[in-house]
Amino acid sequence: MIVESLGFYHETFAGRRRPDTLHLMVTAAEIRVALANVIDPELHTDIVDLGMVGEIVITDRDVEVGIALTIASCPMRGQIEADVERRVASLPGVDKVTIAMSVMSQEQRSTLMERARKRARETAKPTAVSPSTRVIAVSSGKGGVGKSSLSVNLALAITNLGHSVGLLDADIWGFSAPRMLGVVETRLNANADRKIVPTEAYGIHLVSTGLLLENEETALMWRGLMLSKAVEQFLNDVAWPSDLGYLVIDMPPGTGDVQMALARLLPQAEMVVVTTPQIAAQKVASRVADMARRSHMPIIGVVENMAGFTTEDGTRHDIFGSGGGASLANDLGVELLGSIPIDPDVASGGDSGDPVVIAQPEGFAGAAIIAIAARVVEILPPLQLDSCIGRLSAL
Ligand SMILES: Nc1ncnc2c1ncn2[C@@H]1O[C@H](COP(=O)(O)OP(=O)(O)OP(=O)(O)O)[C@@H](O)[C@H]1O
Ligand SMILES: [Mg+2]
Repeated sequence: MIVESLGFYHETFAGRRRPDTLHLMVTAAEIRVALANVIDPELHTDIVDLGMVGEIVITDRDVEVGIALTIASCPMRGQIEADVERRVASLPGVDKVTIAMSVMSQEQRSTLMERARKRARETAKPTAVSPSTRVIAVSSGKGGVGKSSLSVNLALAITNLGHSVGLLDADIWGFSAPRMLGVVETRLNANADRKIVPTEAYGIHLVSTGLLLENEETALMWRGLMLSKAVEQFLNDVAWPSDLGYLVIDMPPGTGDVQMALARLLPQAEMVVVTTPQIAAQKVASRVADMARRSHMPIIGVVENMAGFTTEDGTRHDIFGSGGGASLANDLGVELLGSIPIDPDVASGGDSGDPVVIAQPEGFAGAAIIAIAARVVEILPPLQLDSCIGRLSAL
């Protein structure tokens, strides 16, 4: 029995039979070459490169291949299994193929994500967003949890820390950032290069379909537009400032097209996941994890929103339950960036265009969001293109 495991395999011709020998024995190297043609259908990278191929055990003409999946319930499991089996079985010298499925450790998963990101970076077309801009996509596993409120206030709080910040309202149909920033009347103009110029609101650079539409009827026209195309336009045809330190993206509810387009166009994008204090249903966690995997976006951390309400006499009521943020962070293996209480100033400020971090920076929600912004900037410090990290990220 020959056992050849990942990474420590050196092959020389010494002692090997010549390929034309009748009782040809397949080698692990040949199997790896064949498996390099099995492409993970979601990550668009081959499974060898992704580190999914483990131990290969060859016993005469029988081959056992170890395949590590990212998650046990991987929906692509059947397809990957069938592809592996077909590729290996087609090699001369193989009669029987057995696949030993396992699930990756947290560490293996991070390595896989890193490789997938590297590949995505290598194939990404340049956009109008500088490679040195940190991109923070504010997402969630379900709608109405406060993505837009957090995006707007997070962008403002990061600006107040002295950085140049953009806000892209990627909720093409359900835009809400213009109202939250009090710029509903503004319309965006194009510059001499026919690029859309973001509008400035409280010092942030804002782009939203809400600032492009004439009226509700034009809004209807956008419905025919592919979401991913709209996002692509916002990244390519907008004159984003070249010194933009951060771009916060208010993601639409749900998963899918927009996430994929973003990941393809902005490989530096990372995710902040918003959730409610309700003990996160397993469904939400797996949906978010799946979204991160398919878009190969790393998750910076979880923000719990609408946590507890404190009445004037100081009594706290956990209206939407408690512990959901910590539980989701734990499930995803990331940190809980902070917890934002229910605060009527968030809702009223959102309606009147007075964002809570500006209007009530010392209020319950304002202070919480400012602390979250500080933590995010600590985790993702601004990139300087002339630094080593900056150069690496620009590659
Ligand atoms: N911490 C909070 N305290 C009180 N109200 C809040 C808080 N966070 C959000 N809200 C309110 O909850 C509602 C939903 O918030 P928001 O629009 O930010 O969610 P969303 O996740 O962007 O929704 P959608 O999925 O529809 O885009 C809004 O009316 C908002 O003002
Ligand atoms: Mg929203």
